[in-house]
Amino acid sequence: MNHVFLVGFMGAGKSTVARLVAEKVGRPCVDVDELIEADTGHKVAEIFALRGEQGFRDLEAATLESLGERPASIVACGGGIVVRPENRATLHRLGKVVYLRVTTGEALARIGDMRSRPLLAGEGGALAATALLQARDALYRSVADVSIDTVGKNARAVADEVVASLSIEGPF
Ligand code: S3P
Repeated sequence: MNHVFLVGFMGAGKSTVARLVAEKVGRPCVDVDELIEADTGHKVAEIFALRGEQGFRDLEAATLESLGERPASIVACGGGIVVRPENRATLHRLGKVVYLRVTTGEALARIGDMRSRPLLAGEGGALAATALLQARDALYRSVADVSIDTVGKNARAVADEVVASLSIEGPF
């Protein structure tokens, strides 16, 4: 399977850029968080509240694995997908991985209302973001075939870079 996976921190622009890349190359766009929400009938924040982070990670891993059954798509991944080693292996097996890099400051500015991001909600969200991004950056890098800096760029410019960097071909 030849998906293109967009990984990176919350607020990196993965969902928006995935939609733009998919339009550009005429492939389906898939958002892992949206699939989980559609399958469970719950928002991500509710799943964290009901099942805890590990419960959410189990759903995330199963959803990622299920993409092997889908046609080649542009896939926006949740920011924590790289945390489990099994997911990093699945990403490699099912396609190419693009890391959209962002700074904590720009990520927080783009996210705005942090209530939709349970790992950053509540007091200390900004500090948590800094620590999480620092801890994850090496994981994003380790799994990426291509790494693109998004700071100061709009989503359309980033989407153009994604397409150019992978020489993605048109629809199948
Ligand atoms: C998470 C990122 C979120 C979502 C969940 C956990 C993370 O997705 O999957 O809140 O651990 O970084 P986005 O990166 O699309 O915000």
